[in-house]
This record gives sequence, structure tokens and C-alpha cells, in this order.
Amino acid sequence: MKKLLIALTVVFCFGVTAAFAVDGGELYKKRCANCHRDGTESSPSGGGAVLKGQSAKEIEMKLTGYQNGTYGGAKKKTMERMVSKFTADDIKALADYIGSL
Ligand code: HEC
Repeated sequence: MKKLLIALTVVFCFGVTAAFAVDGGELYKKRCANCHRDGTESSPSGGGAVLKGQSAKEIEMKLTGYQNGTYGGAKKKTMERMVSKFTADDIKALADYIGSL
């Protein structure tokens, strides 16, 4: 019985994680593509390096940097607002997606 409970708990946890897993591509389309388009151009609202070609690690470092104030250029306020509500999972999902562009 105990084993069954543990098994059920494990299945349940994975199920829930999968159901709530962040889709980086969707998030990007909704929240980022307005400015960054498909990632091949610099943002028309001014500045920002082209995202395509950067590794997931670089993007994650930069997005986290916008959150904690350790990264950014002249227009960083725009991005600070953008990422302020993101969780670490959101940022990871976005970074993985952008890294795969
Ligand atoms: C309102 C327009 C706008 C939106 C929407 C936007 N960005 Fe940006 N992004 C910018 C601007 C402007 C910069 C340059 C900021 C600076 O000076 O540091 C930038 C910079 C960045 C950079 C740093 C690029 C580099 O190499 O220096 C990353 C990464 C980035 N954005 C990712 C995202 C992601 C992911 C989203 C969606 C969650 C997003 N942006 C949404 C305008 C936008």
C-alpha cells in the first residue's frame, strides 16, 4: 500500500509538472515577438543585440541580469519591466527556446 501511494505521488507530481511546464515558444510569441520579431533583428524600439545565435546560457544570464540589475544597456528599463514577473522556470523555458532559434 505504501509503495502504491509513493508511486501514485510520483506519477501525480510528474503529471502536474508536465501540465504546467512553460512553453518557451508560446511565451516568446505572446510576450517578446512584438519587439524581437523572430529573433533575427534588433528590437525596433531601440537597441538590444540580435537574439538568434545566442546560446540558451547567455540568454538566461541576460534575462536574469535584467531581473536583478546586473545586466542591461541604455534601454534596460524596457526589459526590466518585461522580465519582472517571470519565474526562473519561465526564464529557463524562454532561454531554451531562443537558444534553439
Ligand atoms: C517593448 C519591446 C520589447 C519587448 C516586448 C521585449 N524586449 Fe527584449 N529588448 C528590448 C530592448 C529595447 C532591448 C535592449 C535593452 C538594453 O538596452 O539593455 C532588449 C534586450 C533584450 C535582450 C538582451 C540582448 C543582448 O544580447 O543584449 C534579451 C535577451 C531580450 N531582450 C529578450 C527578450 C525576451 C525573452 C522577451 C519576452 C519575454 C523580450 N525581450 C521582450 C525590447 C523588448
